[in-house]
Amino acid sequence: MRPNIKGSTILVTGGAGFIGSHLVDRLIADGARQVIIVDNMFVGNEMNLQDALSKGAVLYKDDIEIASTLDYLFSKYQFDIVFNCATKALNYSFVNPKNAFDTNVTGVLNLLEHQRCGHFKTLVHFSTSEVYGTAVYEPMDENHPINPTTTYAAGKAAADLAVRSYAQMFGLDCFIVRPFNNYGPRQNFKGYLAGVIPITIYKILKGQKPEIHGTGLQSRDFIYVYDTIDAIVKLYPLMKKADSVNISTDGQVSIKDLIQQISSLMGYKGEVLHKEARGADVETHNASNQKVKKLILYRLTPFEVGLRQTLDWYKENIE
Ligand SMILES: NC(=O)c1ccc[n+]([C@@H]2O[C@H](COP(=O)([O-])OP(=O)(O)OC[C@H]3O[C@@H](n4cnc5c(N)ncnc54)[C@H](O)[C@@H]3O)[C@@H](O)[C@H]2O)c1
Repeated sequence: MRPNIKGSTILVTGGAGFIGSHLVDRLIADGARQVIIVDNMFVGNEMNLQDALSKGAVLYKDDIEIASTLDYLFSKYQFDIVFNCATKALNYSFVNPKNAFDTNVTGVLNLLEHQRCGHFKTLVHFSTSEVYGTAVYEPMDENHPINPTTTYAAGKAAADLAVRSYAQMFGLDCFIVRPFNNYGPRQNFKGYLAGVIPITIYKILKGQKPEIHGTGLQSRDFIYVYDTIDAIVKLYPLMKKADSVNISTDGQVSIKDLIQQISSLMGYKGEVLHKEARGADVETHNASNQKVKKLILYRLTPFEVGLRQTLDWYKENIE
């Protein structure tokens, strides 16, 4: 029997990051007995957990690639559920390709070994749409071929296979959620690891010119982070062992349109810089969300609404 979120002791890896910190808030709101976070603070930010820490969550600033980190946590707490959100952003794979791969693979293998030893019951593993690569057919459903184009995505794909094989070999209760591009409050806006929405907002707020890499015709399926979290907690009791599910919207936005939309919301009429295309940039990410829609009452915030709220958050939180 899969433990309920309510009343459980839960570990969230990478929980000081963007999606993980929203998940932590939701788990607390849904009545988790205790939420423990482990994050090596690579981009994690304690500010993201301000509310959660005030409500009794505990943050360990430590690394899940180091097996003894998890040995310590599993000896100290009796976890029921683990949500594995820890990763290093895609752009990092262009700087340190090996470690981008390693983080995604070693972290989950360390967790799976603890699960195999009976140290917790259920693993919810975060995959990414990046594992599909550029679409072979559209919309991309969960059976789309895995064709990663970066070591980040290759590591995520290998992690998915590890989760599935451990589930098959040892009957472990683990499943995979596969979000498409998320946006919303708390997404990292600093430096080369920042996503396109926060970096564009940041640049305009700071009086800098926003940038488009390549033609700008490459498109993404942008989902509001609160919708992703809502879907994951609703999916939690329903997912079969070893199964995976896309979490995406019904539409796509090209990067060019996105920059235009952000510029117009922010009243920016200046120049947009055109930069060289990034190597291995995926052209299109047109997802099928039929499966998630069949499983749960799926909530999707209109893009303009989510974008406006996100913008308000950055205005308040970037000095
Ligand atoms: N943001 C998106 O658009 C998106 C899309 C699809 C999938 N995902 C997946 O969702 C999950 C969360 O992504 P996010 O956007 O919140 O990323 P994020 O970078 O904001 O959060 C990841 C966290 O993991 C931490 N971390 C990195 N290496 C670690 C390690 N070795 N040990 C412990 N902590 C470590 C980082 O410090 C960071 O706080 C990831 O698995 C990611 O692949 C994200």
